[in-house]
Amino acid sequence: MNKKAGNDFLTLHQIVQAARRNLDDNAWDYIIGGADTETTVKRNRLGLDRLAFRPRVLNDVSEIDLSGELLGRQLRLPVILAPIGSLQDLHPDGGTGQAKAAAEFGIMSMLSSVCKPGLEKVAEATPGENRIFQLYVRGDAAFIDDHAKRATDNGYSAFCMTVDLDHYGRRERDIAKGHLSTSRKTMAKNEVHQERLNWDDIKRFKDTHAIPLILKGIATAEDAGRAVGLGVDGVYVSNHGGRQLDHGRGGIDVLPEVVAAVAGKAQVIVDGGFMRGTDVVKAMALGADVVAIGRLQGFAMAAAGAAGVVRALELLEIEIKICLGLLGVTRYAELDATYLHEVEAVTSPHVLSALPLLDESY
Ligand code: FNR
Repeated sequence: MNKKAGNDFLTLHQIVQAARRNLDDNAWDYIIGGADTETTVKRNRLGLDRLAFRPRVLNDVSEIDLSGELLGRQLRLPVILAPIGSLQDLHPDGGTGQAKAAAEFGIMSMLSSVCKPGLEKVAEATPGENRIFQLYVRGDAAFIDDHAKRATDNGYSAFCMTVDLDHYGRRERDIAKGHLSTSRKTMAKNEVHQERLNWDDIKRFKDTHAIPLILKGIATAEDAGRAVGLGVDGVYVSNHGGRQLDHGRGGIDVLPEVVAAVAGKAQVIVDGGFMRGTDVVKAMALGADVVAIGRLQGFAMAAAGAAGVVRALELLEIEIKICLGLLGVTRYAELDATYLHEVEAVTSPHVLSALPLLDESY
């Protein structure tokens, strides 16, 4: 295990290097892999890399407000920790470490229902209201209601249903090696509940439960409109890090049409390939409320547990501050699409292409 404390890392690529040293090939491929041809994984990066900035100069940027807000809670950055199953396979800190890192840094985290030690134990270890619970629906209405009640009783401030996993994507890096993550192992062979989940279930949830509801895996304006029509509180644009439907669009590419369809009736979260401060700022310019961090969080957890995740967030914060200052703005509300310009990407996109100082062995 790498001995570095979280705050020894000076750059994000050093965090990924430490993660690689600490993980065996199975765990490494579990994080970086995507479905089939991994085209969606690459499009997440390509979409971000195709946006250049149009900065404005000669503005006083000596005081910059970096904070964000989600469901009425202040965040130190407009960033949250995406749900990651089996975090405990990456570092013993696991799901508790995720919640602790978010609380220490001052943002929110989403605990996956397939991450140990589970929602009650994580809540016990990290009291506070910065936690959201994310569910894979692996049971009937009573299963959903049970989780909603437990999340509410344990102080989770919102409930997230992941809706892009009707069928499990073929992640060929894992399949070829016969590797099953702990969360995959716990899935029943003939699991059909996620396949059957539909808009009536969302309506029923909103009619039954007071806890705010987020739908994760929205990829079109049509579905975003439907979600807000049912009173959903958070529309989470995501292609699951390219691990589900292959040949989808990049998260950032989907964002503008969803922001338009939601029209302020819910908050918009986006993920997919976000690795750098500039990536976060691009999403904010296109109207996101919050960006979620998936693989970067996984690498940071593998590198140094909760301390590693805090350090990754500190580095993101430094990058975001410099980016905003150099764009000539002091808060995200000053940004809009005129700060962006579509260009050709200068790098060939892949899961780690945002970190060019990593050598080809990655
Ligand atoms: C995930 N993701 C995920 N999503 C979810 O809703 N529940 C889960 O348990 C998991 N588990 C999981 C494990 C691993 C190793 C990865 C990489 C991803 C998807 C995750 O929440 C998020 O949507 C993507 O990771 C975002 O893309 P980036 O940031 O990884 O490119």
